[in-house]
Amino acid sequence: MSGKMNNCSYKNGGAPPKASKETSSCIIVVFGVTGDLARKKIIPALYKLFAMGLLNEKTRIVGIGRRNYDDIEYNEYIKSAVEKAGRHGESAAEEFVKINSYYGADFTVPGEYPGIREYLKKLAAKYKICDFLYYLSTPPANFEQIITSLHDSGLSRPDFLDVSCAGSFVRVVIEKPYGYDISSARALNEKVLSIFSEDQIYRIDHYLGKETVQNIMIFRFVNGIFEPIWNQKYIDNVQIKVFESEGIGGRANYFDRSGIIRDIIQNHSLQMLSLIAMEPSASNAPDAVRNEKLKVLQSIRPFDRAEPAKYLTAAQYSAGIIGGETVEAYNREKNIAAGSVTETFAAIKLFIDNWRWAGVPFYLIAGKRMPERLTEVIVTFKPAPHMIFNSLCNMSEPVSNRLVIRVQPDEGISLKIFCKRPGFETELQPVSMNFNYSGSFEAALPEAYERLILDALNGDATLFMRSDEIEAAWDYITPILQCLKNGEIELKKYAAGTPGPELCGFFGLNLC
Ligand code: BG6
Repeated sequence: MSGKMNNCSYKNGGAPPKASKETSSCIIVVFGVTGDLARKKIIPALYKLFAMGLLNEKTRIVGIGRRNYDDIEYNEYIKSAVEKAGRHGESAAEEFVKINSYYGADFTVPGEYPGIREYLKKLAAKYKICDFLYYLSTPPANFEQIITSLHDSGLSRPDFLDVSCAGSFVRVVIEKPYGYDISSARALNEKVLSIFSEDQIYRIDHYLGKETVQNIMIFRFVNGIFEPIWNQKYIDNVQIKVFESEGIGGRANYFDRSGIIRDIIQNHSLQMLSLIAMEPSASNAPDAVRNEKLKVLQSIRPFDRAEPAKYLTAAQYSAGIIGGETVEAYNREKNIAAGSVTETFAAIKLFIDNWRWAGVPFYLIAGKRMPERLTEVIVTFKPAPHMIFNSLCNMSEPVSNRLVIRVQPDEGISLKIFCKRPGFETELQPVSMNFNYSGSFEAALPEAYERLILDALNGDATLFMRSDEIEAAWDYITPILQCLKNGEIELKKYAAGTPGPELCGFFGLNLC
């Protein structure tokens, strides 16, 4: 056998291996447990981890919310939240309910925290637990105050337990949106970092927990054949699309204040961009990876407010048809003012000013009420430097290879190459080399939240955003938001069910 052996092992297909590290016994405290996110994502993810045997058997989950639930009502709430997470044996849901309990309190009121502390203290003593994971699944407006109250009530340090807890941890998971612009993000970082150290803070961007997004680093840095061509010499442009057919659902108040740039591009799109564009890190240690991602975000050329239309298209959906159904215009949705100027679609063109990417445009495109749900990264390569087949020079489209990383749905990767169509003429036909998760792996892909919660319990922050990454992302995005807010660029319209204004023709390119 030739070649250097290394100490890596791999499995070919099959079920995903179990997490090797058992989590330590811990009390997971979910603030905002009765909210939408906790019910739809966090509780089901905890349940799946429990049912797979990945939670330490002493783990306890405490929900904190403002509703008045008695034990029976809360048990019903937990059972209904895990219903859609699939069956895991006859009694898994019943058993899961037993590790859950509820403490009704208005977590926005500092005076409630001594009560929370006493409750947690008793539970910790009963199960001999010293570790705490606080999960902030509340409206972002409450983050700073909850963090302050955790500190003031002593809950931010395990010594509130009055027993020796050497080596124990207190960690805090903070949901998005993390900040509203650069100054609020900085203020939040300052507050959180005045109480917790960076290695105790887990800022969630759930896209980083998606299998297909994690696979970007594996694809780039394990398959050595791509690295030599992953640069401005061979790559013509990169598109990162996040399309959703859904509208704003029941989140009118949140979304109208946010818009698609804050909701998707500032976090999900820029995080995917940093994984696509980063340099290989020295190792997969959390800070080694995050240092490289940070450098990408810091190298993005600042948005040029003097010529906004060259780099930004923003639009809002009007009425249209999706899947055969007529849907309302955004400004006629419930709880949205008729005069709202919130963008539900944006396309941004940016450059990363470093040696690897000089001159390569990156397009970040995101929209609600698009024709379909689709998240993908499209890397378009430059055509061959010289075409020796003269008869092919009049092709209507450029003869360029394209690599498509399909994040969701139909997860996979495909490479478009050109072939000679069989026959006596020299004619080209684009064909695809495809990898699909569904064809190569038997098991369903784990939910992003399962992976992220497990990592937070295990103290692995690689897939979480560090404070400087968040600030670098807001540094770039804030001038774009100001430009929109001040009406420096026209807010266009697109019919719901179409791929944005101008039917994909942005910045002189067809980006569909
Ligand atoms: C959230 C946004 O972060 O991501 C939502 O706030 C969006 O508006 C959601 O719908 C998309 O997540 P996913 O995993 O369905 O692509």
